[in-house]
Amino acid sequence: MTEPKLNQYETVQYSRIYSLGACRGDLVVTNDDVAGPIDSSDEWIRQRTGIITRRRASENQSLMDMAVTASKEAIAKAGITADQIGAVIFSTISHPYQTPSAATQLTELIGASPAPAFDISAACAGYCYGIAQADALVRSGIAKYVLVVGAEKLSDFIDPTDRSISFLLGDAAGAAIVGPSETPGISKTVWGSDGSHWSSVSMTGSLLELRDGKNNWPTLRQDGQTVFRWAVWEMAKVAQQALDVAGVKAEDLTALVTHQANIRIIDEMVKQLKLPEHVAVARDIVNSGNTSAASVPLAMHQLLADGVVKSGGLALQIGFGAGLAFAAQVVVLP
Ligand SMILES: CC(C)(COP(=O)(O)OP(=O)(O)OC[C@H]1O[C@@H](n2cnc3c(N)ncnc32)[C@H](O)[C@@H]1OP(=O)(O)O)[C@@H](O)C(=O)NCCC(=O)NCCS
Repeated sequence: MTEPKLNQYETVQYSRIYSLGACRGDLVVTNDDVAGPIDSSDEWIRQRTGIITRRRASENQSLMDMAVTASKEAIAKAGITADQIGAVIFSTISHPYQTPSAATQLTELIGASPAPAFDISAACAGYCYGIAQADALVRSGIAKYVLVVGAEKLSDFIDPTDRSISFLLGDAAGAAIVGPSETPGISKTVWGSDGSHWSSVSMTGSLLELRDGKNNWPTLRQDGQTVFRWAVWEMAKVAQQALDVAGVKAEDLTALVTHQANIRIIDEMVKQLKLPEHVAVARDIVNSGNTSAASVPLAMHQLLADGVVKSGGLALQIGFGAGLAFAAQVVVLP
């Protein structure tokens, strides 16, 4: 029997992030604005989380508006046109439709149709999941340029009286263009999940329960301490593994960009990784809050915009959250 002949894609050796784009919610929301319904205070929120203000989107600014703005910036900075994009990966947990996907709508709005487009639901790990997929798509030759977006309008899924998470959350979008490279720009990814803690960060109920009148509009909630401990202990190990598989030492890094969940988690990771002083640490949570899938690209974009880091350095990026899903990789700063 003759072997069937099936044409394969021409592979590419390396990929890299070409550019980033970002868009924050148009409203600045202070701690005093959110403290009342949870019997908290500006002081408590600052001390326990590092957050001073978070950005939220007004009624006039949708999840898609933020995703379009961030994507257009990333496309322009990459020096490509939207019609060159070979795939669009959209990570979100706050798209208000079960189907169709946010990705297909975004693809049309930015002029990238008929690129294949799909959503991923990996919450705060979603952007780093997306970068892993984009890296694989580019290197396998399936797509030349991939747009990866992490965008959230979490304020649509907040119960202002919930003490466990409501005050942490913000709205924003971050976007990246990944494409072929002559040198390695994205390392192997360390990723995974722990469904035994599936309900540790979750919605207060399902849409079926809402339909059947057994629950109100589902909002986000979490077992704060459980997630905090997991983030501090397990995610520092994942971050170290990501360095190890990349063949990079902490002192080789220019930046650490973690998911922006709590400044105490970020500070603890810095300690556990024994990061030298010269490594810039993203602390965008202070002004943006926790924006789930958007937080990693948003925080990296801010470090670059502030001139704290320059293009070409190495950054360790790590996302973690609901699921409990996590992903970390070392990337060359765009
Ligand atoms: C939510 C979080 C900020 C709470 O902080 P914490 O230090 O763990 O708070 P605790 O639950 O231990 O509570 C400590 C005290 O503060 C109080 N408290 C809890 N939440 C509060 C709030 N929002 N405002 C004011 N007081 C609060 C508690 O009642 C408790 O008071 P007590 O000592 O009198 O009993 C923190 O657990 C956290 O950031 N968790 C992880 C977030 C994360 O990584 N998420 C990833 C997915 S997005």
